[in-house]
Amino acid sequence: MKVHVVTAHPESRSFNFALRRLAVETLQDEGHEVRCSDLYQDGFRASAGPGDFEKPQGSGSWQLASAQLDHEKHGGFVFEIRREQERVLWADLTILQFPIWWGSYPAILKGWIDRVLSYGFAYGRNRTLPPRAAMYSVTTGGAATDAEAVEYRERVDGLSEDVFGYLGWQVLPPSICHGPANAGAEARQQMLDDFANHLRKEVVVET
Ligand SMILES: Cc1cc2nc3c(=O)[nH]c(=O)nc-3n(C[C@H](O)[C@H](O)[C@H](O)COP(=O)(O)O)c2cc1C
Repeated sequence: MKVHVVTAHPESRSFNFALRRLAVETLQDEGHEVRCSDLYQDGFRASAGPGDFEKPQGSGSWQLASAQLDHEKHGGFVFEIRREQERVLWADLTILQFPIWWGSYPAILKGWIDRVLSYGFAYGRNRTLPPRAAMYSVTTGGAATDAEAVEYRERVDGLSEDVFGYLGWQVLPPSICHGPANAGAEARQQMLDDFANHLRKEVVVET
């Protein structure tokens, strides 16, 4: 299987990056091909707007989805969007690796969704990209009780459903690591082992 891992974390020594490195290692060991987008480290721009296109936009009232559709037909997305769209097209599975910030995505990853999964490319009639599979791998500040862990799971399922469910993609069960920043070395290692097992179990080639 071809897997694209999109990571949104400003610190490459973070637990999120330990998960991202482990994902690459585990998936390659299992015989999958892997490509990575490290959004902060790649300097990816977070906000969608007229700057997503190579040519200056006209002076009339501007609309993002219309501009995206027009550029899907005629070309002209800026390089970083074209590069990401090529990776999404290439991959059977896209994994989003990120910490929960204010109950949601870091802004840079939300920007990736807004800018890369564009109208005409990822959604809309005659879209270029057929549905694929997606998996969320997230970290949280910590779940004190089982009920809180269930709430997080519902939240993460809601986030993936709003985007990839809408696009008609297969959404694989998420991996959720609770409170790695406050956990001891042993607990962190357990989270890493659990994640590797999660990937071995969920990322399988359908025959
Ligand atoms: C701006 C910001 C907002 C945050 N919001 C939440 C939140 O809403 N819920 C939560 O559980 N943790 C929240 N956290 C904690 C992070 O999720 C947590 O520190 C991170 O998942 C740990 O992974 P890391 O060590 O790789 O950064 C927030 C952290 C930051 C910096």
